[in-house]
Amino acid sequence: MIRISGLSHSIAGTPILRDIDLTIPRGGITALIGPNGAGKSTLLSLIARLQKIQTGTITVGDLTIGTASDQDLARTLAVMAQSSHVQARLRLSELVSFGRYPWNRGRPGPQDHARVEQALERFGLIPLRDRFLDEISGGQRQRAFAAMAYVQDTPYLLLDEPLNNLDIAAARDLMSLVRDMADTDGRTVVIVLHDINYATAFADHLVVMKDGAIAAQGRPDQTVSEALLEQVFGTRARVEILQDRPVVLV
Ligand SMILES: Nc1ncnc2c1ncn2[C@@H]1O[C@H](COP(=O)(O)OP(=O)(O)O)[C@@H](O)[C@H]1O
Ligand SMILES: [Mg+2]
Repeated sequence: MIRISGLSHSIAGTPILRDIDLTIPRGGITALIGPNGAGKSTLLSLIARLQKIQTGTITVGDLTIGTASDQDLARTLAVMAQSSHVQARLRLSELVSFGRYPWNRGRPGPQDHARVEQALERFGLIPLRDRFLDEISGGQRQRAFAAMAYVQDTPYLLLDEPLNNLDIAAARDLMSLVRDMADTDGRTVVIVLHDINYATAFADHLVVMKDGAIAAQGRPDQTVSEALLEQVFGTRARVEILQDRPVVLV
């Protein structure tokens, strides 16, 4: 479980997050949705300790962000950031193997190699393993970053808009892998999604943000409605229920 309480954050005097209290359940997929600038990435980066907490507290499992050791946190929480700019000329398999760092401190053993092999297989990356990251497509790169987060073997996984710029096939493939990490491996996944229809199709729990605050949360079918789209996104779109899931018609 991730517990956030009294969390506020400002940048250069401008409030970005306003007194957030939120509990993210253990297990399954929680999707964070909301308009651009709502504060989703800021919230995720505070959970992932990529920024220092100014006010409030966050606990992940029984670890408190800010006091737990880096090693304990790295073995508990893996992050895939919104845009990962890797400068070095790295091969895909090398990137994935970095995910093992919290367990081997840069000295990989047979178990680490086996985990990386298994991840390359599971993420369909075997044919690309020796390619440099600048020689593969955006979708393949995003799958590689997801595989790196996967081999970190953490109970919690944070993904910030992993579907950015992916075509429908790549997006559906990646979401199936994410779904499987929750279902088969029992990971708790927190994922920022731009497309509400992906959120309602794949998530168990939705958290809707607007202006640095939580506007709504709950099961997708209890959360996404025409009224919510108007209130939070300021747009009048039709919502239909298909196979028990709300679907936004654009
Ligand atoms: N480094 C920064 N400097 C100034 N403002 C920032 C910075 N990062 C984010 N913001 C502002 O904080 C708000 C929330 O941003 P963000 O968390 O990225 O939102 P989201 O991920 O929901 O689109 C936005 O208004 C954004 O402009
Ligand atoms: Mg963002």
